[in-house]
Amino acid sequence: MKGLQGKTALVTGASSGIGQAIAIRLAEDGCNVAINYRSSPDAAQETVEQAMDKACKDVEQCGVKSLLVQGDVSQEADVIAMVQKTIDYFGHLDILVNNAGVQTESPSHELEEGDFEWVLNVNLKGAYLCARETIKHLLAENRPGCIINISSVHEIIPRPQYLSYSISKGGMGNLTKTLALEYAAQGIRVNGIGPGATDTPINEAWTEDAEKREAVASHIPMGRAGTPAEMAAAVAFLACEEATYITGQTLYIDGGLTLYADFREAWSA
Ligand code: NAI
Repeated sequence: MKGLQGKTALVTGASSGIGQAIAIRLAEDGCNVAINYRSSPDAAQETVEQAMDKACKDVEQCGVKSLLVQGDVSQEADVIAMVQKTIDYFGHLDILVNNAGVQTESPSHELEEGDFEWVLNVNLKGAYLCARETIKHLLAENRPGCIINISSVHEIIPRPQYLSYSISKGGMGNLTKTLALEYAAQGIRVNGIGPGATDTPINEAWTEDAEKREAVASHIPMGRAGTPAEMAAAVAFLACEEATYITGQTLYIDGGLTLYADFREAWSA
């Protein structure tokens, strides 16, 4: 993608799944990458190795650098420290990808307060804290920058049994729009992507089982789950120079899941 060389990106929750693919893709496109993980340094190290492998495969002297940054995005002190560590190491931060996310399943009338808070704290409060610290830096340095929130099709599709997750992603849509409007004049673009069902560890309940995978695919107009690399490509686009007039949008990368698949056929003759 055009214009990513020499930029610095911080990707949260980058030790697996979509976050890992995003870090690798941004490095491949020439970005320095700060790879955040909460509790799996070995998995995060794998992201570093794959990212550097892609970034440096065709060049003699690789200009891309990477950094591991531990931190729980739901903890203010951790977020302040990890953003500062990124800036200290690379000199600046241009791109934040709010990817870290969790979910919990329960009938809503039985949902425990602690589970509700956990999901909201990681998915929504974490994204706000990381955005806040990044925006402070961009404003202080008078630099343009961009924030990309990894939302979900559940930003707009209700998801029974996943109340806290649905609320967090619905809220993320408004986080995207509000920050985009507030900082547009300062050259800070804020967008999101809304993945559909994607083949990652968060979905191990169906990705490892052929029958369940088939059942999931049957609901998707394009007939298959998405890959982390397909999500990462959209993030790279939103971060790059071709997207300089796009802000406040959530781009759904979902094989048609948000197209009301039940309307594929007429309901009555
Ligand atoms: P994943 O489980 O592989 O990735 C989530 C990452 O977030 C993990 O690396 C985890 O360690 C990290 N994380 C969790 N709590 C954290 C915390 N407090 N601080 C820092 N990191 C933390 O799953 P996946 O699918 O890659 O999820 C990435 C994002 O994509 C999430 O926000 C998820 O909601 C979103 N998404 C995923 C979809 C899917 O079908 N896989 C569909 C729509 C959205």
